[in-house]
Amino acid sequence: MSFHNVSREAMAGTAILGVALVAGYYMGKTRTVSSRMDLFKSHSGAKDNPLMLYVLNHSLREHPALTKLRLKTLEDPYNYMMVACEQAQLMANLAKLIKAKKAIEIGVYTGYNALSLALALPEDGRVVACDVEEKYTDVGKPFWEEAGVQHKIDLRIQPALKTLDDLLAAGEAETFDFAFIDADKINYDNYYERSLQLVRKGGIIAIDNVLWSGKVINPAQDDMNTQAIDKLNKKIYRDTRVNLSMLTIGDGVTLAFKI
Ligand SMILES: C[S@@+](CC[C@H](N)C(=O)[O-])C[C@H]1O[C@@H](n2cnc3c(N)ncnc32)[C@H](O)[C@@H]1O
Ligand SMILES: *[C@@H]1O[C@H](CO)[C@@H](O)[C@H](O)[C@H]1NC(C)=O
Ligand SMILES: *[C@@H]1O[C@H](CO)[C@@H](O)[C@H](O)[C@H]1NC(C)=O
Repeated sequence: MSFHNVSREAMAGTAILGVALVAGYYMGKTRTVSSRMDLFKSHSGAKDNPLMLYVLNHSLREHPALTKLRLKTLEDPYNYMMVACEQAQLMANLAKLIKAKKAIEIGVYTGYNALSLALALPEDGRVVACDVEEKYTDVGKPFWEEAGVQHKIDLRIQPALKTLDDLLAAGEAETFDFAFIDADKINYDNYYERSLQLVRKGGIIAIDNVLWSGKVINPAQDDMNTQAIDKLNKKIYRDTRVNLSMLTIGDGVTLAFKI
């Protein structure tokens, strides 16, 4: 099934999204319609871009369970929270490249990326999946099962910071290979610092939404989310504990390679 064939359903999802945006809620924060760009994301900002379709037509190799989960998620009014499929594929390829066995997903939503990572890990691999909203993660579970990887996904329903501290207290520092930071933006720096402790040298921390629809260029005084992201971007740029790349895929993702 090509991405093009399924994008009609994606557009139906986006129509619902428009209504949600007028309502103006995004994780408890008011956002405007025009700010919801995600310029480089295949299911929001760039969804009608022929070049994006070309990219997907010539690179997306999506597991059937991932395709089904993506389409199911597009029925949800908050589907703009879902990771871009092309970005999830990149991160799965990176996880395989570094022979990852243990990963952390901070912010699961319906579990597209958790499933994508689980599929990339070996049989004895583990994804510690952190979220507070079971109503979202429940959407993903049947697809994790269908793909036969639910045993690799260790879902923890509680604030992610608590789960990360639990892992540290359990002596799991420096044992993880990959971390994906994609939950509440106010805690981004906390997630980054915990992830740096939990990931081994040579491991990767991927930080999502680092461009925040372009708002990072000039964060508004009262916009705490954009300020938190911009502050972390500036910190990571100077951080000698990591090598980095900031990529313009999806809503922007920084890859930090722990030295
Ligand atoms: C952008 S979505 C994650 C998308 C997901 N990575 C994917 O693959 O599609 C952000 C998620 O973070 C969760 N979240 C918000 N605050 C949180 C917190 N303090 N601890 C854990 N999860 C949180 C939300 O419930 C939401 O599901
Ligand atoms: C993508 O693939 C679909 C289905 O095969 C096709 O209709 C469409 O023209 C393709 N678009 C591009 C830009 O390659
Ligand atoms: C970080 O970059 C330096 C300089 O290019 C390189 O020597 C080192 O191997 C890199 N470390 C990692 C973990 O990528």
